[in-house]
Amino acid sequence: MKLLLTNIKELLQVRETAPIMLSGLEMKELPTLKNGWLLLENGLIHSFGKMEAIEGFSGVNTIDCAGKIVLPTWCDSHTHLVYAGNREQEFVDRINGHSYKEIAENGGGILNSAKKLQNTSETDLYNQSAKRLEEVMQLGTGAIEIKSGYGLTTEAEMKMLRVAKQLAKNYPIDIKTTFLGAHAIPSKYKGNKEGYLNLICEEMLPKIAAEGLADYIDIFCEEGYFSVADTNRILSEGKKYELQPKIHANQFTALGGIAMGVKHNALSVDHLEVLTDKDINALKGSRTMPVALPSCSYFLSIPYTPGRKLIDAGLPLALATDYNPGSTPSGNMNFVVATACIKMKLTPEEAINAATLNGAYAMGLSATHGSITKGKKANLIITKEIPSYGYLPYAFGSNLIDQVILNGDVI
Ligand code: NIG
Ligand code: FE
Repeated sequence: MKLLLTNIKELLQVRETAPIMLSGLEMKELPTLKNGWLLLENGLIHSFGKMEAIEGFSGVNTIDCAGKIVLPTWCDSHTHLVYAGNREQEFVDRINGHSYKEIAENGGGILNSAKKLQNTSETDLYNQSAKRLEEVMQLGTGAIEIKSGYGLTTEAEMKMLRVAKQLAKNYPIDIKTTFLGAHAIPSKYKGNKEGYLNLICEEMLPKIAAEGLADYIDIFCEEGYFSVADTNRILSEGKKYELQPKIHANQFTALGGIAMGVKHNALSVDHLEVLTDKDINALKGSRTMPVALPSCSYFLSIPYTPGRKLIDAGLPLALATDYNPGSTPSGNMNFVVATACIKMKLTPEEAINAATLNGAYAMGLSATHGSITKGKKANLIITKEIPSYGYLPYAFGSNLIDQVILNGDVI
């Protein structure tokens, strides 16, 4: 199967050989090709070039992209897309002056979602999640990570991961799964955190690993949730099952979770809204990707991750949605890219690099995703007619996507 895109106004993120990640000043460069063509074959990027020198392709299905920009689909490396129900009441409570912390301490928050999920059948959970997945695919996401963490019992955690695996089977989007049993201490274990950590280590992890349900391991390292010592324990335990860490750290407090993540060779450390110079130094020289989640900052009115500071320190940065019912009920990567420019002062080039190549790295998908490179997956966004790629984050409230191609097929 072949598909040819012609008259492309500008093809973004064109790399002859793609680097696995981009750091510091490299993030300012977004290589492009103007007035180009792109040939897809058998679900992969086959070749591309300038329209002046287009080869004679006869009898090939063609999409005329005149006036349109083409770029790789977004790589969303941090979501909790599999969840049951919503929490709009907590949203209203926060408008009325109650804090996120206060709501969580009164049985809302993660525990509220866990109760809902435990009482939802696997089929219902699948159907609710499939709808969200279909929506984000239409919004241009071509690879996504999905975490557990709203189950908090062995059965419910496994149910979440099975749903994520089923979605991966049924949809043409690449899905990585992460075990986040240590997301919150369930009510049953109130005052007995050690008991819950034992359950994770002795029961959940072995079962999840035996069924091959997770690619990565995560923990919410935060005051009132899990400590740096707990993080050390869970990540060490995960290593026994070859689960590389991708962790939640520094959302509200800088506890030292980042250095602990780096010590365990975490693929990514995510959130980082509250960041110290010590945290930045811990990341230097590591292979750990810092991941910012600006929609979460927007929705909770908490600080934005100092992405400018991280990049100026020579570090890489990835952008993701954090799609979940409590802190980010949105899986829209276009909004993430725009918000990173508007609020975090990333340039459009930096934001697009962070949401494609660096997002792919944070899911272990550098070899196949995140750039227009021969042999990589034919996962593409074709925009509507727009004046320039800077218009994407600029016109932040408009849907500028015309078509999405996954594995070489228009979805
Ligand atoms: O990444 N911070 C921890 N977990 C989720 C949100 C939890 C919730 O409120 O449901 C997050 O923001
Ligand atoms: Fe999260």
